[in-house]
Amino acid sequence: MSVLNRIIKTASRFLVNRAARAEESGRLTDLGLWGLDVNANGRLSVNGQDAVELVERFGSPLLVVNRKKLIEDARRALAAFNCAPVGSRILYSYKTNCIPGILKELHGAGLGAEVISPYELWLAERLGVPGEMTIYNGVAKTPESIEAALRRNILSINIDSAEEVETILTIADKLRIQGRVGIRLGFSAKSQFGLDVHGNEAMKVCERIAALKGRLEFSCIHFNVTSNSRWASTHKHYAGRAVEFMAEMKAKTGLVAQYLDIGGGFGVETTKNMSGAEYGMYRLFGCLPSPPKVADFPPIESFFNEIIEAIKAKCSELQLETPKIIIEPGRLITSKSEFLLTKVNTIKTRPDGTTYAMTGAGRLSMTFPCDFEYHAAFVADRPEARPERLYNVMGRVCTSADWMFKNRLLPKLNAGDVLAVMDAGAYFSSYSSNFAFQRPAIVMVSETGNASVLRAQESFEHLVAMDNI
Ligand SMILES: Cc1ncc(COP(=O)(O)O)c(C=O)c1O
Repeated sequence: MSVLNRIIKTASRFLVNRAARAEESGRLTDLGLWGLDVNANGRLSVNGQDAVELVERFGSPLLVVNRKKLIEDARRALAAFNCAPVGSRILYSYKTNCIPGILKELHGAGLGAEVISPYELWLAERLGVPGEMTIYNGVAKTPESIEAALRRNILSINIDSAEEVETILTIADKLRIQGRVGIRLGFSAKSQFGLDVHGNEAMKVCERIAALKGRLEFSCIHFNVTSNSRWASTHKHYAGRAVEFMAEMKAKTGLVAQYLDIGGGFGVETTKNMSGAEYGMYRLFGCLPSPPKVADFPPIESFFNEIIEAIKAKCSELQLETPKIIIEPGRLITSKSEFLLTKVNTIKTRPDGTTYAMTGAGRLSMTFPCDFEYHAAFVADRPEARPERLYNVMGRVCTSADWMFKNRLLPKLNAGDVLAVMDAGAYFSSYSSNFAFQRPAIVMVSETGNASVLRAQESFEHLVAMDNI
């Protein structure tokens, strides 16, 4: 090995060890953050149900939804959002975790549906969500789905491109329905979403809608600009800009939006997006990012209150009536109440000391968010055990890119142990794939510890059900 290579190797080992220690010293150990605890056998427990037993019963990997925590988090968000004007609403972002058994619980608690595809629109209707509680976002909406949305008179079809106005108009005229529409504001040249605010595209579309009075009804101004935000500042900033747009729109076109939809993007205290530097160091050297600081995260009550007060103040400054506010949270509602269990199938230690823990779930099939977010992990057999060894935790897809965690300090693992990965309730199922394997079962554990299947593990027959074989 050349001297240069040796220096690089030593330096990267130093950086990896330093990052692993930093991760370990800041890691989240309070299982109560996810509504979990440890049972008398020292194992991870959800509402009195032993997590390892769940894997024995339903197989590995397995997604587990804690119903108590799910309902608690949904209710807390609803109560916190009471600071918004009467008639405001929370519409759960279906794409975040589109599992009917979970959606039904959320609708039962009082949340509506934010959908972005013909399938999600269909599912919301199938689950009995009223049109008044449904918003249709998304790019390149199909004519069939626009027709379905118009027939249901949903709260708003949020227009994403200039062409979409004409498509909606043609279908609405054909049906003799005055459809409710909104527009999605695009604030950034770096994003493909929405109507450009700076280049005047958004205002031109509003002028067109105003000219169609009696044929289209203007309902909503929408934007969605952030993800996993830990502070209210981004929402406040863009809500202020949206209110300025509304004032200008009223002056130029006479249109008034009943609703201001400020999108999703509200974070949770238990996970965080990697910074650019952390992402780069993780990619280049395998340095694990540091955990989020729970204490930094404002209670959701003050998070919402800050945004709503800023909107009210801006409206009063610009002499606009404060609109009803819509939010479309995904992660905030479901992230913490679901976790992933996966068995460690084999441990392999290489001559250079690198140790691989081979599991049933890597980022290419199950844990894609671990690519760019920090996620807490425990050994379900002994969640309180002290971390002592570095592991590359791998999935089972045949590429070295199928890692779940690189260089993670964990308690000494044995084949047969079960790993529990937290915050699986946002974007784990949505991004999961059946690359060579079936997707896993999803079970829900009730308040009294009863486990029921929300979605069975895919069978081989499911995998070929749409094929001509
Ligand atoms: C339009 C829209 N609304 C809501 C959300 C939900 O975001 P989050 O899960 O960050 O709240 C997303 C996420 O991509 C989105 O694109």
